Amino acid sequence: RRATLLEQALTTDERIALVHGDQAMPILGTKIPAGAIGSAGYIAGIPRLGLPALQETDASLGVSNLLDMRPGDVATALPSTLAIAASFDPALAYDAGAMIGREARLKGFNVLLGGGDNLIRDPRSGRNFEYYSEDPLLSGAMAGAAIRGTQDQHVLSTVKHYAFGDQETGRMQFSARIGEAAARASDLLAFEIAIERGHPGAVMCAYNRYAGPYACENEFLLQHVLKGDWGYPGWVMSDWGAVHAVAAANAGLDQESGAQRDAQIWFGAPLAAALRSGAVPPQRLSDMVHRILRSMFAVGLFDHPPKPGPIDYAADGAVALRAEQQGIVLLANRDGLLPLAKSVRSIAVIGGQADAGVLSGGGSSQVIPVGGVKRLVPVGGEPPFGPYLSMIFGGSAPYAAIKAKVPQASVHYVNGRYPKAAADAARQADVAIVFANQWMGEEGDAPDMSLPEGQDALIAAVTAANPHTIVVLQTGGAVRMPWLAPAGAVLEAWYPGQRGGDAIADVLFGDVDAGGRLPVTFPADESQLPRPVIAGTGLAAGQPFDLDLGEGAEVGYRGDAARGVKPLFPFGYGLSYTHFAYSGLHLQGGNALEVSFDVRNAGARAGVDVPQVYLTRGCAGASQRLLGWARVELAPGQTHHVKVSADPRLLADFDVARQRWRHPACRVEVAVGASSQDLRLRGGAALDAVSIAP
Ligand code: BGC
Repeated sequence: RRATLLEQALTTDERIALVHGDQAMPILGTKIPAGAIGSAGYIAGIPRLGLPALQETDASLGVSNLLDMRPGDVATALPSTLAIAASFDPALAYDAGAMIGREARLKGFNVLLGGGDNLIRDPRSGRNFEYYSEDPLLSGAMAGAAIRGTQDQHVLSTVKHYAFGDQETGRMQFSARIGEAAARASDLLAFEIAIERGHPGAVMCAYNRYAGPYACENEFLLQHVLKGDWGYPGWVMSDWGAVHAVAAANAGLDQESGAQRDAQIWFGAPLAAALRSGAVPPQRLSDMVHRILRSMFAVGLFDHPPKPGPIDYAADGAVALRAEQQGIVLLANRDGLLPLAKSVRSIAVIGGQADAGVLSGGGSSQVIPVGGVKRLVPVGGEPPFGPYLSMIFGGSAPYAAIKAKVPQASVHYVNGRYPKAAADAARQADVAIVFANQWMGEEGDAPDMSLPEGQDALIAAVTAANPHTIVVLQTGGAVRMPWLAPAGAVLEAWYPGQRGGDAIADVLFGDVDAGGRLPVTFPADESQLPRPVIAGTGLAAGQPFDLDLGEGAEVGYRGDAARGVKPLFPFGYGLSYTHFAYSGLHLQGGNALEVSFDVRNAGARAGVDVPQVYLTRGCAGASQRLLGWARVELAPGQTHHVKVSADPRLLADFDVARQRWRHPACRVEVAVGASSQDLRLRGGAALDAVSIAP
C-alpha cells in the first residue's frame, strides 16, 4: 500500500529516473556520480518524497571494492561460495549473508548484488567460486538462506544471474539450449527455491540468451515463469551491460543497471519516447516502479536506512573462519597422515604464495580483505579487462598459521618456483605441505581442468621426495590430479577467505574436524564432462553460438549415475577424522515422502558428518536426485536421528503440456549415503499420484 501511494505521487520523469541506474565505479571511462558512495551501481533518490537512493554493492563473498575504487576500503572476505555450500549448512549461509549485510549497511549501502545461484555445470567455468553447487536443492537452500541473512539486516539482496549464465566464454553471445522440462528441474528450480526461501527484493537477469532472446528481454523467463508461475513480486534488474532494446520493458525487465555499459540508456530517453508512442503502456512503467518501491519497503530501506559506522571486523572475521573451517573438504588421507601430530619436528611449506596470504577469485565480487592486499600478482592480458586482472592474496597466511600451531618445530617456506628446490626441502622435512592455486575470475573460463603454471610437476616432485606430502588446493573447483596416488593427503580449501590460513591449519592439525563435503562432482578429466571442449571455444569475439545443455537436468552426479561414470571424487564426498554408521532407515510414502534414519559416530574422535538422502528410482525410472541431508556434529558413540521431508518437485517431473509437476502413483526407491556414490541404506515407498502447479 505504501508503494502504491508513493508510486502515484511520482511524475513520469521521476518514474523514468528510477528505472535506470548508473554504474558508479571508475572503470571503462565512467565516473562516480554525485551522491554515490562508489560501487557497482547507483540510482538517485527523490528527496521531496523521502525516497532514498539505491547504493548497490557487489556481492556474495563480502562487500567488494573492485580496483580499490574506494581507496583503502577493506571488508571481511568470506571463502568461496563453494566452500559455504560444502558445509551443507544453511545456517552458516545465513550467518555469512548477515555478515555481509551488516558490513554493507555500516558502509552506507542498501542493496547487495549477492545471491549468485547459477547451477555449476562445468568445473572450468570462471565464476563457479561465486556459485553454490551442481544440485538445485542444495543451491537453492543455501542461496535462499544467504539472501535471508542479508535482508534481515535491511539490505536488499538480488538473486543472480537469471538464468543459465553458467559459463563465461561468450557470456554476452551464447543462447542456452535446454528443453523446458529440464530447465524447470535444474537451474530454474535452484532459483525458485532460493526465491521461496530468501524472498530477494530483486532478481538480476543474465547476460546470455535463453532459447533465442536475451535473458533480460526473455518473456518466458521473466513474465511467464518468474512473475507468472512463481508470483514474484519484486523487481528484475539487468546485469551491467545486458540490455539491448527498450522492448525489454514489455518482456518483464523493470530496471536497467549500469546503463552506461549498454549501447544506449534504453530506459532513459528511448523509454520516454516509447511511452509517448504507446509502445510501452504507462501501466507498465507504474508496475516497474511499484515493484522497486514494494521491495524497498518490504526489506526496510525506508524505515531502517543504512547508518555508516564502525565495523566489528574481529566478530565478522570469526564468521569467515567458521565458514572455511566447515567448508574445507578432505579428499584423500593415506594411512591417517592427517591430522598432523603437534609433535611433528619439521615441516616444509611449499608454493601457492602461502607465505603472503590466501588466494581469492577475480572480477566484480573481488573483496579487498581486512588487512589489505598482502600480495598482488598481475595476470595480464589484452584490453579492456586484461590490464585489470590480478591474483589477490590476503587474509591470514597459511605459513604463519602452520608455524603458530607447532612453535617448537622447524617450519620453512619454499616458494615452489623450482621443483628441485621444493623437493630438496621436502626431503629434509618430516612432512611437506604443498599449496597449489588455480586463479579463476569473471569474464574467463579455464580452458581445461589442469592446474596452471607447472604446479602438477611441482607436486609430483614433492610427493616423490617425501611420501608424507599434503596437497592443499586453492581452486575455483575441480582440477585434474595426476599426482593423486603418491600424495599422502589432499585438502580442497577453495578460496579460503579472511581467516583462510587459520582454518587450513586448524584442519591440518585436527583442531577442527574435516567436515566439508563436495557440492560439485570432481571428474577424473574432461572426457567425463558433457562438453569435453567448452562451447564457443575458438569463435571470433562477439560471434553468437548455442550453448547446448544436452545433459538437461542430469547435471553432475545425476548424469554420472545415469551413465555409470566413476568420477575422481563424487558429489557429497569428503572424509572426516572419525567414521560414521547409518542404520534404521524408515520411509513413509502416501501423499508425501518422509525419510528417517540414525547416524552414529562409530569412531574415537568427535566429528562432523553429512549423511545424504537420494532418490535412486522415481516414477519414471532410475534417476538420482538429492532429497535432503543433515549436517551433524557428534561425540564418539553419539547417535542422531535424522528426518528428511522430500520436496514433491524432486519426486515429480515437469509436464510441459499441462504446465504442472506430476507423477503417477508408483513405488520409488531411496538411499542414504555418505556421498552420491557411497549409498549404504536402501528402501522403497509407495507414493500417491501428484499434480502441482509451479
Ligand atoms: C556481473 C554482476 C555484477 C555486476 C555489477 C557484472 O559484470 O556479472 O554479477 O553484480 O557486474 O558489478
